[in-house]
Amino acid sequence: MESPIAAVLQQDHARLDRLLESAAEAVRAGRWKEAAVLLERFRHGIVDGHMDVEEKILFPAFERWETDVEHSLTALLKKGHQDLRVFFQEMAETIGASDMEEFLDLLGTVQTILRQHDAKEEAELYPFLADALPDGGGHGRRPAG
Ligand SMILES: [Fe+2]
Ligand SMILES: [Fe+2]
Repeated sequence: MESPIAAVLQQDHARLDRLLESAAEAVRAGRWKEAAVLLERFRHGIVDGHMDVEEKILFPAFERWETDVEHSLTALLKKGHQDLRVFFQEMAETIGASDMEEFLDLLGTVQTILRQHDAKEEAELYPFLADALPDGGGHGRRPAG
């Protein structure tokens, strides 16, 4: 059975995919102001929320738990986050410039990277978090002290 924490994280991937798609819809309709707001909502949700929790809590817990001393999986995932953050910034710039063609180009790239990144996490990381986290991931956060 899937652990609650794996299910929550997977649902968050789906929620963020929908947010990005809604920003893209606004771009396709030429509603640039709305697109900027929606893209920023997506960026904030994924960068300051999802990726932040992964990098500060989940990856370190997995690294302590796993046997791979080089942490190749989390190193790859962190590099993916770095690349994605750059792409999000570039997408925001194309919205600022009302450049639909360039935005849609970037969108295709970002959605491909995200799909692969999320699939890798869902297959190789999330299933092990319930064991890797000290409280079984019940609260998703190690108690202070
Ligand atoms: Fe991630
Ligand atoms: Fe993720």
